[in-house]
Amino acid sequence: MPDYRKFFSDDVPSFLRSPVREIFRKVDLSSIYSFAGGYPSAETFPLEKMPALSETVVRKYGAKSLQYGATQGVPELREAIAARYGVPVANVQITTSSQQGIDICGRIFLNPGDIVLTTSPTYLGAIQSFKSYRAEILSGELPEGRKAKFFYVIPDFCNPSGETMSLAEREALVERARREDFIIVEDSPYRELRYSGEPVPTIYSLAPERTLHLGSFSKVFAPGLRLGWILGPEEILEQIFVCKQALDLCPPVFDQYLAAEFLSSGELDRNLEASVVLYRRKRDLLLSLLDKYMPEGVTWTHPEGGLFLFVTLPEGVDAVEMFDEALSKGVAYVAGPLFFTDGSHRNTMRLNFSFMDEARMEPGIELLSQIIKSAIWKNSH
Ligand SMILES: Cc1ncc(COP(=O)(O)O)c(C=O)c1O
Repeated sequence: MPDYRKFFSDDVPSFLRSPVREIFRKVDLSSIYSFAGGYPSAETFPLEKMPALSETVVRKYGAKSLQYGATQGVPELREAIAARYGVPVANVQITTSSQQGIDICGRIFLNPGDIVLTTSPTYLGAIQSFKSYRAEILSGELPEGRKAKFFYVIPDFCNPSGETMSLAEREALVERARREDFIIVEDSPYRELRYSGEPVPTIYSLAPERTLHLGSFSKVFAPGLRLGWILGPEEILEQIFVCKQALDLCPPVFDQYLAAEFLSSGELDRNLEASVVLYRRKRDLLLSLLDKYMPEGVTWTHPEGGLFLFVTLPEGVDAVEMFDEALSKGVAYVAGPLFFTDGSHRNTMRLNFSFMDEARMEPGIELLSQIIKSAIWKNSH
C-alpha cells in the first residue's frame, strides 16, 4: 500500500471538516429532533409543478437542454436574473451554487497567507473554503501594516446569527472598503426570506464597483439543483469566467432552464410567498417555545428572516461538551464555536427552524431545555 499522504498538496492539511456533515453521515435526521443543519423545509419544494416544468424545458429547448452550455450560464437565466435585480446581463455570472461562488472568490483572490476579513461569527462553509487556500481569516481591525483582499459578509439574516446589518453598518463597511481598498463579498442566500421588518439595500447597490454579490436558488427553489449567481464588475467576472472553465466548464444546463422558466413564469415568486408564510410561522413558533422552556440566563437572537437563530447560554456552560449527550438523547444543534475562526464562544449554539415539522418542535425544545438546565446546574455546582 503506498503512503497516500505524500501525494497530497500543501493545501490539504488546511482542509477543515464540517462537523455538521459528519453528524449527517452518522445520524438519520428524521429519527432525532434536529435543529442542526440548514436544510430548507421539503414543503417548500414545488414537487407537483416539476413534471410540467421539466416538460416545458424539453419541449422549448430540446437537445440544447442536455448539451454543454455557456460558461457564464445560459442567456435565458442570466437575463431573468438581470431583470429581477435591475443589473445589465454583462454583470451576471451563473454559478453551480453559492458555495461555488464563495470558493471562486478564494480561488481568484487568495494567495497563501492573504487576509480575509469577516464578521464573527460567520458561515462555516466560507471558513472551510478560505482556509483551503491557506488564507488568514480575521475579524475586527487589520494588524499594523497588513492589507485584506476582501471582506466576506452575510448582511441579511446571517448564518449563524440570524442578524441583519443596518443601512448605517453597510455604509460604514463600504466606506472602510474604499478607505482600506478591499473587495466586499456579499453572500446573500437568505435575502428574499424576510418575515418581518423592512428590506435594507444590498451592499452591491451601495458599491457595485467593489462588491461581488452572491445569490442562490437553494432557499427559494431547491438546493438539489445546485444553482446560484454572482453579480459583480465585468473585469472581475471576466476572471471568474476563466476560473469556471477549469472548475466545471459550465453550470448545470437543464437546471438552469428549469430555473429560468420557474423565474420568468412568476412561479418562483408564488412559491416564495408560500415559503415566507411557512417560515414566519416556524420562526414565531421557535421563538415562543424558547420563551416557554428556556431557563433564566439563556438569551437568543430574534431574526427578521432566514433559517437560523443563535442562542447564548450562561458563561461557563459548554455547548460543545453538551453536544454528545444531547445527540444521544435525540436532539441536535450546531455548537457556536464552529462559526468563530478562533473556536471561542463555547457557550453558544445555532438553531435552525426551517427543517423540522412544526409538531416536532415543541418536544424538541423541551428536551433541549432540560439538557441545558442540567448543564447550567452542573456548571454552578
Ligand atoms: C451563508 C451561506 N452561504 C452559502 C451557502 C451555500 O448555499 P448553496 O446551496 O447555494 O451552495 C449557505 C448554505 O447554507 C449559507 O448559509
